[in-house]
Amino acid sequence: EKGGFEHFMLKEIFEQPRSIRDCMRGRLDSTQGRLVLGGLSEYITKLVNAERILIVACGTSWHAGLVAEYFFEEFCRIPVEVEYASEFRYRNPVIREGDVVIAISQSGETADTLAAIELAKSKGAIIFGVCNVVGSSIARATHAGAYTHAGPEIGVASTKAFTAQLTVLSMIALSVAQRKGTITEQKLHELLVEMETIPAKVEKALLLNDEIKKISALFKDSRNFIYLGRGYNFPVALEGALKLKEISYIHAEGYPAAEMKHGPIALIDEEMPVVFIATRDSSYEKVVSNIQEVKARKGRVISVVTEGDKLIPAMSEFVVEVPAVHDALMPLVSVIPLQLLSYHIAVMRGCNVDQPRNLAKSVTVE
Ligand code: F6R
Repeated sequence: EKGGFEHFMLKEIFEQPRSIRDCMRGRLDSTQGRLVLGGLSEYITKLVNAERILIVACGTSWHAGLVAEYFFEEFCRIPVEVEYASEFRYRNPVIREGDVVIAISQSGETADTLAAIELAKSKGAIIFGVCNVVGSSIARATHAGAYTHAGPEIGVASTKAFTAQLTVLSMIALSVAQRKGTITEQKLHELLVEMETIPAKVEKALLLNDEIKKISALFKDSRNFIYLGRGYNFPVALEGALKLKEISYIHAEGYPAAEMKHGPIALIDEEMPVVFIATRDSSYEKVVSNIQEVKARKGRVISVVTEGDKLIPAMSEFVVEVPAVHDALMPLVSVIPLQLLSYHIAVMRGCNVDQPRNLAKSVTVE
């Protein structure tokens, strides 16, 4: 059942080239410049005309929502707010006509997300669901939606569901952008072609496994970790830190790299591993200076860079290279080494990676 892998989590990490492909199958066709999302067709104009999009989710799904925020705002020019479902439901939020809610949930059973949906529904909002589990409570409670089709995720730490969420949300955003005319046909084509290359790029990133295992051995006894990224890689930093915390029980924080100087920089000393998600994108130069700031305080820099980068490797103690891809799609690739890092560290620490203490796969209590 684990397909020869030692744990479900590792199996699911390695399934990602396939799960991402499954998620796009029959929906995305770059040669025709077409996106077909069956479950949305009836309601897609609501999204196209939305004055605002509210995304509600928890945990890793909330991180996928943050990536989607950047994506929707960049390509659809619709303002987006991303909320923890647990906060949203209890804080008397403003929900207006013309707002559209997107709820993201792997299990489709998360109590807070479900309650956030019911609240938004009671105010007349249209709700889209992005769920993995077919027929789940959230899938049933929403007006329309798109399944992630990642297949059952058994490991408590979410991996393949996250990349499938990113894939679906990107397809929804591009489909809205196309209808709204906020993206040129040429740009759309370019992004669709790039999306089709993702499974192969994830496959390539998975080849880092042995290298990451070696790095993991050197850091398994660290007591803290900091993960830093900017732009589309900022949510990836949050996700990397969450993965490490939940399965290895090492304290980790994810931060936007530039925000580090407003506090967390005080934590940096020669014992602090700092993982930079520093791929070549529009914030590259800025990240380079953030790395310098960490190095000046003797932090131990581990970087995830784009293949062929020369500058950041020269500044880092350890480097892993991932294939180049458009900024907006990079989280699909840059998260892979972070999933592997948390997995190997947890295994080396003797932790139960598939069923970490205190955690359940579906959080059906608030
Ligand atoms: C992290 C993790 C949790 C879930 C969160 C939401 O690896 O698994 O943070 O992401 O409990 O769960 P879903 O997506 O099922 O609503």
